[in-house]
Amino acid sequence: MNPNHLLSIIQSRRTCYQFLNKIENPVQIESIKTCLEAAIYAPNHKLTQPWLFWVASEALQAKLAHIYADNRALKNTQVLSNNKESVYQRFYQKAFDKFMAIPSVVLVGQRLSDNEVIFKEDYAACSCAIQNFQLMAWSLNIGVQWSTGPIISDQRTYDLLEIKPEQINIIGALYLGHIDESCLPNKSLKRKAICEVMIQL
Ligand SMILES: Cc1cc2nc3c(=O)[nH]c(=O)nc-3n(C[C@H](O)[C@H](O)[C@H](O)COP(=O)(O)O)c2cc1C
Repeated sequence: MNPNHLLSIIQSRRTCYQFLNKIENPVQIESIKTCLEAAIYAPNHKLTQPWLFWVASEALQAKLAHIYADNRALKNTQVLSNNKESVYQRFYQKAFDKFMAIPSVVLVGQRLSDNEVIFKEDYAACSCAIQNFQLMAWSLNIGVQWSTGPIISDQRTYDLLEIKPEQINIIGALYLGHIDESCLPNKSLKRKAICEVMIQL
């Protein structure tokens, strides 16, 4: 294994908000399965394997798009006092189209343990799984945005997945798609230097 190669994948990965057109560059289910293969090998204390991944069909994506757009439109309507109906419609349609343009959506759930320690460990393990997923995706030229936006806590999403929030928590919506240079965010996300965060005692 070449450690520099691994480091370069880790360092170059960026959260992506733009993707190549999904009709011309669809994310194949085989690619998603490869990312999931990486995800499920995340470290996981007591091997509880608390994760679940829903790979959205076009039909499920449209239902999620409705929830996403409704939340966005309601939020934007609240700040504007007049002509609420048409403002809602405008924001709703824009948000709906934006969501439907995402090439692929994967929701990640955590099975909830009653034990406080295992609950925390399981969230950590699910987070590791998502990062494994993102890194494998990156190596396949697939960018990911890990979103914790309103759709993951909206009861309608739980109803769509036929799960109960007290049993399974949706911890992230992964928005993914093929990318090229033009899709990369241009803001610099340099991290603090090692000397600022490493303490040798
Ligand atoms: C737990 C978690 C939740 C996140 N939620 C969101 C989100 O809701 N929306 C978003 O745009 N990015 C979200 N992100 C992505 C971060 O904003 C992103 O990782 C950060 O800006 C650093 O950028 P990078 O991933 O390109 O290094 C989330 C990341 C994590 C780990």
